[in-house]
Amino acid sequence: EKGGYPHFMLKEIFEQPHTLSDCMRGRVNVEGNNITLAGFIDNREKFLNARRIIITACGTSWHAAQIGMYAIEEYARIPVEVEYSSEFRYRKPVIHKDDIVIAISQSGETADTLAAVELAKNAGAFIFGICNVVGSSIPRNTHSGCYTHVGPEIGVASTKAFTAQVAVLTMLAILIGKEKRTVSREEYLNLIRELNLIPEKVAEILKKSGQIEQYAKTFTYAGNCIYLGRGYNFPVALEGALKLKEISYIHAEGYPAAEMKHGPIALVSHEMPVIVIATQSDTYEKVTSNIQEIKARKGRIISVVTEGDQVVRGLSDFSVEVPETLPCLTPLLSVIPLQLLAYHIAVVKGCDVDQPRNLAKSVTVE
Ligand code: M6R
Repeated sequence: EKGGYPHFMLKEIFEQPHTLSDCMRGRVNVEGNNITLAGFIDNREKFLNARRIIITACGTSWHAAQIGMYAIEEYARIPVEVEYSSEFRYRKPVIHKDDIVIAISQSGETADTLAAVELAKNAGAFIFGICNVVGSSIPRNTHSGCYTHVGPEIGVASTKAFTAQVAVLTMLAILIGKEKRTVSREEYLNLIRELNLIPEKVAEILKKSGQIEQYAKTFTYAGNCIYLGRGYNFPVALEGALKLKEISYIHAEGYPAAEMKHGPIALVSHEMPVIVIATQSDTYEKVTSNIQEIKARKGRIISVVTEGDQVVRGLSDFSVEVPETLPCLTPLLSVIPLQLLAYHIAVVKGCDVDQPRNLAKSVTVE
């Protein structure tokens, strides 16, 4: 059942080229000229006239929501708010009838997200679910939605569900943008072309698992780690840190790289690994100077960079290259080395990767 892999988590990490293809099949046209999402077509007017989109989720699904916010704002030009379901449900949130609430949940059973859905439904909003488990409680309680179609995810640490959630949100953002004409035809075709290339690029990165495993052995000493990223890679930093915490029990935090100097840089010393996602983007130079500041304090740098990178590589103790893509698609690639890094560190430390202590796969109680 683990398909020859020692753990479900590793199997699920390695399944991602296929699960991403499955998630996009019938949605991103292979001829490269169209995106369709049934949940969008049926509710086109609602999406085009939405005053605001609120995305509610927990844990890893909340990180996917953050990436969705960047993509929807960039391409669909609709204001987005991302909420932890547990906070949203107990606040007195202002919800309008022309708001769309998107609930993201792998299991479709997370109690707080289900309660957030009920609350928003009672307020008259249109509720759209992005879930993996077909027929689970959240999809049964939403007006419409989109399944991620990645198959059962057994490892407690979410991996393939995350990348598919990001893919669905990205498709949705592009599709709304195309219909609203906030995305040009040329941009639209380019996005589709690049989306189609993602599964094979993920497969390229997976070949680096052995290299990451070797490096993971030097990590057993670490008690604390910081993950940094900017833009689309900031939520990836949060996700990388969560993966490490969950399965290796190493304390880790994700920050927007520029926030370092507002406090966390005080923690940096030669004992502190700092994992920086520094792929090509308009903030690449800024991230580079953030890295220099950490180097000056003797921090150890592990970086995720774009193929062919020279500068950040030269500043790093260890780097993993990922293929080039569009900024909005970068998370689908940059998260892969972080999943592998957390996995290999946890294995080196002898942790129970698939069933980490104190955690359950679906949190059906508050
Ligand atoms: O099933 P859900 O997506 O609603 O679950 C939300 C979180 O409980 C979940 O993502 C959790 O944070 C994972 N253990 C992350 O790896």
